[in-house]
Amino acid sequence: MHLAVIVLAAGKGTRMKSEQPKVLHRACGRSLLGWALATAEPLNADETVVVVGHGADEVVASLPPDGAVGVVQEPQLGTGDAARVGFGACTPDVDTVLVTLGDMPLLGTATLEAVLNTHRTERAAATLLTAVFQDPTGYGRVVREDGQVVGIVEERDADEEQRAIREMNVSVYAFDAAVLGDVLGRLRSDNDQGEYYLTDVIAILAADGQRIASVVADEAECVGVNSHADLALVSNVLRRRINERLMHDGVAILDPDRVYIDVGVDVGAGARIYPDVYLHGATTIEGGAEVGPNVDATDSSIAAGATVRYSVLEGAVVGPEATVGPYTYLRPGADLGIGSKAGSFVEVKNSQVGPRSKVPHLSYIGDTTIGEDSNVGAATITANYDGFTKNRTEIGDRVKIGSDTILVAPVSVGDDAYTGAGSVISRDVSPGALALERSHQEEIPGYAERRKRRASEDGE
Ligand code: UD1
Ligand code: CA
Repeated sequence: MHLAVIVLAAGKGTRMKSEQPKVLHRACGRSLLGWALATAEPLNADETVVVVGHGADEVVASLPPDGAVGVVQEPQLGTGDAARVGFGACTPDVDTVLVTLGDMPLLGTATLEAVLNTHRTERAAATLLTAVFQDPTGYGRVVREDGQVVGIVEERDADEEQRAIREMNVSVYAFDAAVLGDVLGRLRSDNDQGEYYLTDVIAILAADGQRIASVVADEAECVGVNSHADLALVSNVLRRRINERLMHDGVAILDPDRVYIDVGVDVGAGARIYPDVYLHGATTIEGGAEVGPNVDATDSSIAAGATVRYSVLEGAVVGPEATVGPYTYLRPGADLGIGSKAGSFVEVKNSQVGPRSKVPHLSYIGDTTIGEDSNVGAATITANYDGFTKNRTEIGDRVKIGSDTILVAPVSVGDDAYTGAGSVISRDVSPGALALERSHQEEIPGYAERRKRRASEDGE
């Protein structure tokens, strides 16, 4: 078999009311089209063609570089026209075509396999996927005679009796390539919408005496996304699937209804995920890490034994046994070493915090390297930006930075050094020294008593 998969994805998605092409809307970190391609991927098709139209450039740019090819359907004259355009982009070697949709992300690979298997074993000219819907309003209905499929009628073209049919057309089909090539050329647009309907192919083939097979899918898989409500619905199902998979693999998720993990996030067995956790992009959580409650992490890694609570992480690395939060903001390049700490109201950007070093409270650490076993006192900040360039701060090993120190970069503090609380440090500090930058404290004795007396003399 030489298989081509054609994904129909040219539609506008008017009901999304969005500038973004419908198939690029995301569910659990992957576009709707991405889900369609991921579902088809295990079929190992010889060629995959995505029919694009609305937002064509953007959709094509989203395709994986060595996977599917995009072909533009302009104007969009209906699903039959889309299939014709897609088929036109296939090579002459193709003998079997699977048509599927770019906006039905719950569809399972096993369902597509069932369509292909039935198509093959029944030696059909066409095999369609159907589902029996509780409420099929709006969908094409599958018309059968003596059990055999003889056609599909769109809701708007259906009569009373046909509208009562609950078996709907999913819009996933397998075709014999030679048959499809011939019949697409015979489609006409004399229907209510003036479009070329791919669905009409079925009636034409049935009339030709060709064999039409069918597979009935689970209704739950056949949810097309047309609105934000649909998108939320499918996102929830996909999210539950991801969480169930992780729990099955040994991840402790305390309340799976309140954990949002994107596809592609890697969570190791033995990790604990508390409620209200969002994990996005290329995030990795090792086994033994505790994440949440309330953590939003993107493209970050959290190592074994680390705990991260009530925090936002973007492109950050949290080392083994490190503790983060509550209320910590780790920005790109934040790299916390083994056993280190970034505590409450601490922001770290493009900085290394060495093994066992601590930044416990109210600090901004930017463009900084901190060595081992150092402590950064409360309310310390690195003044890394002079209005023109970002400058680095170097803090050595076993350093004690006093509370409310301002480190004016570029500046370095040597190993074992101290800075006095409240100091503005703008020159390098030698190893082992105490750097103090503080005006003298003056004392005016008896001030309070004199102040009181003056007030009573003035009759206040
Ligand atoms: C289509 C089917 C209907 C089925 C329903 C299931 C037809 C005529 N009707 O109806 O029987 O029950 O799907 O969802 O096929 N597309 C293009 N180019 C076009 C038009 C559509 O690529 O010119 C793509 C869309 O992006 C979408 C898919 O084809 O992914 C289906 O199009 P849509 O407009 O949603 O078809 P329906 O009218 O819903
Ligand atoms: Ca649709």
